[in-house]
Amino acid sequence: MQDFTVTPWEVSGDIDYDRLVRQFGTSRIDDNLRSRMKAACGEFHPMLRRDFVFSHRDLNLVLDDHEKGKGFFLYTGRGPSKGMHIGHLVPLIFTKWLQEKFKVNLYIEITDDEKFLYRREYSWKDIGESAHDNILDIAAVGFDPQRTFIFRDSEYVKNVYPLLLRTARKITGSTVKAVFGFDDSTNIGLSFYPAYQVIPSFFEKKRCLIPCAIDQDPYWRVQRDVAEGLGFHKTAAIHTKFLPPLQGVSGKMSSSAGQETAILLTDDEKAVKNKINRYAFSGGRATIEEHRRLGGNPDIDVPYQWMKILFEPDDKKLRTVHDDYLAGRLLTGELKAMLIDRINSFLKGHREKKKKAEKEIESFMYKGKLAKEMWSRTYE
Ligand code: TYM
Repeated sequence: MQDFTVTPWEVSGDIDYDRLVRQFGTSRIDDNLRSRMKAACGEFHPMLRRDFVFSHRDLNLVLDDHEKGKGFFLYTGRGPSKGMHIGHLVPLIFTKWLQEKFKVNLYIEITDDEKFLYRREYSWKDIGESAHDNILDIAAVGFDPQRTFIFRDSEYVKNVYPLLLRTARKITGSTVKAVFGFDDSTNIGLSFYPAYQVIPSFFEKKRCLIPCAIDQDPYWRVQRDVAEGLGFHKTAAIHTKFLPPLQGVSGKMSSSAGQETAILLTDDEKAVKNKINRYAFSGGRATIEEHRRLGGNPDIDVPYQWMKILFEPDDKKLRTVHDDYLAGRLLTGELKAMLIDRINSFLKGHREKKKKAEKEIESFMYKGKLAKEMWSRTYE
């Protein structure tokens, strides 16, 4: 029985991540791989330590290549839309950490084409505005401007069109129907688009590692079917789970599902406070007296889960929050207040960095070392 759905277009239901790994044919990150990551990076990222970064394809081969001095490169992306939410930053924050640890090139694809084809209510002008705004948010995460290339599909297409065609020639209609659930009513642009999401994994002759949430994995299945026949490596991937929506610890935060499910990067202090207090699903008890006596349930408590995923990197402090909540010493209102503070200071920092990013996007897109190199290159 299928009681959840995970596709690049829809994530819903009570996600069983172990079953998803089996369904998608990916692998769990096991202790051995975790130790190898720690040895290579010198430390663990909390998302890895806490099993939020949980699944992969060929991460072992990436580490082999790294150890042998062959190197690898990173690739991730974003389908531009009005207003990014904190869930969108999750894979980007992890990607930034990987870039810092391994000092490798990173390509960020902005899929203006995909969004235009998928969201019929957007005009091309809307897409352009969203792309610019989203690129500022992405730049604010703080990637290395000399080693990062951020590009819009519609702009860079002239440098990759022959390779894109060579790739598209290898992908049949029945493949995209089976992998993405397209049918005869799907517009033909969307049937072509998956070929473009594959292309950045071919930007270097090294192995590519793609950090993303697991909803994007169907694209990598297609990539792995065609890569070797085109003379490239099968891509590797490292998957996160989803930052859950405010309403409950399953599913994914999504701005299209309604403003009250997500914290947007543009939300001000009042909006954050209001959303958390009003909507964040709590594992606390109905009354303070009952909560003190019986304790709360951190496993289903959205504020606790967000602290665990993003807002409390210190394991000892997180353990204290967990234990105090479980024992009823920490109240729901107190936990929510803690989270509101964390989110607001995070967003304040983000907004300041975003303001400065206007200058930096020149480097990421056109003028930095890697960007310049990419504009002088064509792919056949
Ligand atoms: P998009 O814009 O839907 O999502 C961007 C990235 O955010 C992840 N994501 C989440 N992660 C954690 N919690 C959530 N609630 C959450 N919601 C979204 C997505 O998995 C993704 O990593 N087709 C892509 C754009 C793209 C891309 C890529 C993404 C092109 N190339 C390579 C990843 C890697 C898209 O529309 O993503």
